[in-house]
Amino acid sequence: MDFRLNEDQEAIKIMARDFVNQEMIPVAREYDEKEEFPFHIHDKLREVGLYNLALPEEYGGPGIDKISHALIVEELARGCAGIATSVEANSLASYPILVGGTEEQKKKYFGIIVNGGYSAFALTEPSAGSDVSGLKTTAERVGDEYILNGEKCFITNASYANYYTVLAKLKDSNKFVAFIVDRELEGLNVGPHEKKMGLRSSNTASVTFDDVRVPAENLLGEEGDGFKIFMKALSYARPMVGAQALGIAQGAYEEALRYAKERKQFGKPIANFQGIQFMLADMAMQVEAARLLVHKSVWYVQQGTPNTKASSFAKCYASDIAMKVATDAVQIHGGYGFIREYAVEKYFRDAKIMQIYEGTNQIQRVVIAKDILAD
Ligand code: CAA
Repeated sequence: MDFRLNEDQEAIKIMARDFVNQEMIPVAREYDEKEEFPFHIHDKLREVGLYNLALPEEYGGPGIDKISHALIVEELARGCAGIATSVEANSLASYPILVGGTEEQKKKYFGIIVNGGYSAFALTEPSAGSDVSGLKTTAERVGDEYILNGEKCFITNASYANYYTVLAKLKDSNKFVAFIVDRELEGLNVGPHEKKMGLRSSNTASVTFDDVRVPAENLLGEEGDGFKIFMKALSYARPMVGAQALGIAQGAYEEALRYAKERKQFGKPIANFQGIQFMLADMAMQVEAARLLVHKSVWYVQQGTPNTKASSFAKCYASDIAMKVATDAVQIHGGYGFIREYAVEKYFRDAKIMQIYEGTNQIQRVVIAKDILAD
């Protein structure tokens, strides 16, 4: 067992860290305040090869290993979790295609996102969040098309996506069907951008399908495969939510450490007080433990080993400690931590959604419990 990164992974981590420090951190607060999507940062990330991270080289992706992918995501989220989320929304939308797509589908649709386009994963509905099986979007086969009706909500990248990966139920049946749905199809409408507590530089909107005619060639897998395709996609994606949470925790910890050394009270830096030292020690320990779980879960993906439980461990633990570390980082900053110009205020707001999206942490515990009880 070797816990060291290899040379390539080290180089990728340094490159991502430098990019984040130079290009993202200086503008992250501004885009968060304006709730604007920083297209130019996405363009630069594409230019330097830190984009479409899940895609193999043969489809125009960087073809990096999964540990490198997690290292990049961690760094991006340390710089701005809103930007990291939008970047990773493309990976999330790609997983159903990687899992269930044909060669033609992969070539056509990955070709769009590697040439400057965006994509979105459309699963959640107003009345079906945790309960995926309860979704109401229907698909009816008519000739060589499926007629799609329904509504998806909280969709990251919805406003800018060229296509969506969508889960629906076959009309009057219990079969799940997964599709790639092109943005320009008639009857597809995107709602207004949602105003959010955190991740404010990411785009979130609803997507409605009103008799949208999707070509049958856009079906992923066979009729009935949709649920498993989407669940597998989530097992690949959840460790990267863990990596985002880890980036938030790492960033909040670094800010708290720096501040504790600078800030003087009672004639000495507050880092000299054991009350603060214990908080910093706990933060460092939790960040390290989360990193090990994230790296182990993506290592399973790299090996082609089922990673559902490990993926839930990583997502759940890393996001719980991101919330805790960000909360403690605000506490160490005292009143300054509550002021918006301090980075910890943003880490605190961005951390919350990590415990909610891509399956709430309660659902992660359901997945873990199912797995350990079945053993
Ligand atoms: N891989 C492969 N197969 C899987 C699987 C996986 N990871 N998980 C489940 N399955 C299979 C099961 O083995 C089962 O197969 P059989 O019928 O052959 O036995 C089938 O799928 C049904 O599984 P369950 O009985 O476990 O299904 P369930 O209805 O009880 O639901 C659930 C399971 C875990 C609660 C699931 O609904 C779930 O994950 N909910 C959370 C949804 C979620 O994560 N939403 C995130 C939205 S995306 C987002 O947030 C992104 C964003 O904006 C950035």
